[in-house]
Amino acid sequence: MLPTKLPHVGTTIFSQMSALAQQHDAINLSQGFPEFDGPELLKRKTQEYIQNGMNQYAPMPGVLPLREQIKELIFRCYQRDVSADTDITVTSGATEALFVAIQAVVQPGDEVIVFDPAYDSYDPAITLAGGVPVHLELTPGAYRIDWNALNSAINERTKAIVINTPHNPSATCLSYDDLSRLEALVCDNELFLISDEVYEHITFDGILHQSVHRFERLAARSFIVSSFGKTYHMTGWKLGYCVAPKNLSTEFRKIHQYVTFSSFTPAQLALADVMMAQPDHCSELGYMYQDKRDLFNQLMENSRFKLLPSSGSYFVLADYSDISDLPDTEFCIWLTENAGVAAIPMSVFFASGRDDKVIRFCFAKRPHTLKEAAKRLGQL
Ligand SMILES: Cc1ncc(COP(=O)(O)O)c(C=O)c1O
Repeated sequence: MLPTKLPHVGTTIFSQMSALAQQHDAINLSQGFPEFDGPELLKRKTQEYIQNGMNQYAPMPGVLPLREQIKELIFRCYQRDVSADTDITVTSGATEALFVAIQAVVQPGDEVIVFDPAYDSYDPAITLAGGVPVHLELTPGAYRIDWNALNSAINERTKAIVINTPHNPSATCLSYDDLSRLEALVCDNELFLISDEVYEHITFDGILHQSVHRFERLAARSFIVSSFGKTYHMTGWKLGYCVAPKNLSTEFRKIHQYVTFSSFTPAQLALADVMMAQPDHCSELGYMYQDKRDLFNQLMENSRFKLLPSSGSYFVLADYSDISDLPDTEFCIWLTENAGVAAIPMSVFFASGRDDKVIRFCFAKRPHTLKEAAKRLGQL
């Protein structure tokens, strides 16, 4: 028998719900992926680079034109000057960036604070590094940081904090005040921060994304992670990046070069071209998704689901307590089998398994899909 390094990990709920959705021909609002492609130019350019023989290893940190475009984007969005040479590393999705950043920071026995509900990749990465994930729950209903709990959790073994804004699954965003307080805590306690900002360009109602890039002292101790999959609707391409100051990036790259070494060359070159040709893509993304959120909210108005506010990401939470007493995972299975709509139960994002009778819908879908899903959900 091979002893397992991850005793609590099985098939993820995302794979399970997507498989169940397929089996029952249900509308899949569970897994977070868009139902539409990225820019035509991106597809065309990638094909061109493939045809033109740009098919060998990219440089380990990513192709330079792409790192230069990322640098420009960070300057445009957050007025921060980073080095394309030393601070930016292109990775195989944000997943790889998060994994590598955690391996770079965490030594055996170190504690890492994770806020629940949490995206599922942080905990196994911490465990594999020999660290101890310390799960703190965000405040019920509002999903804000409980500062008293955070202050009490920090001790001499604490090495790092993981944050995610805009947040999957709660669709909340950290505020300027939150980031200022985090900056003081991280710097005073000489911690490191891993900031998962994969939905950085998807905020609604005029909310400004409070990137760690805007907080100079905090950024000096942070790995800031983003995803081209999310920003360019190409989740299957698994391309992302990590920005960290030179001393942190050096350690990050030592590990990245033995995890993947480098990522898909033709798409990196094509992304660089598209970022240069379409500089407004990122600033328009929030409006595009806000329309989808508004459409889904409006279509669901007369249903018995109570939708919670969604300020960013492409998710919205729904309270189903008026419809059923089932635990949330059972409810999601029931919903897929009986209503033909797949969603994700919130309890899977809690280490404690907390069940508030809330589920997560992904609204990164075409209008007719959202309409059909809402029609089915409205009949319950
Ligand atoms: C919060 C969060 N972080 C990271 C990722 C992973 O991003 P990628 O597909 O670029 O690996 C996701 C994808 O769903 C996510 O929601």
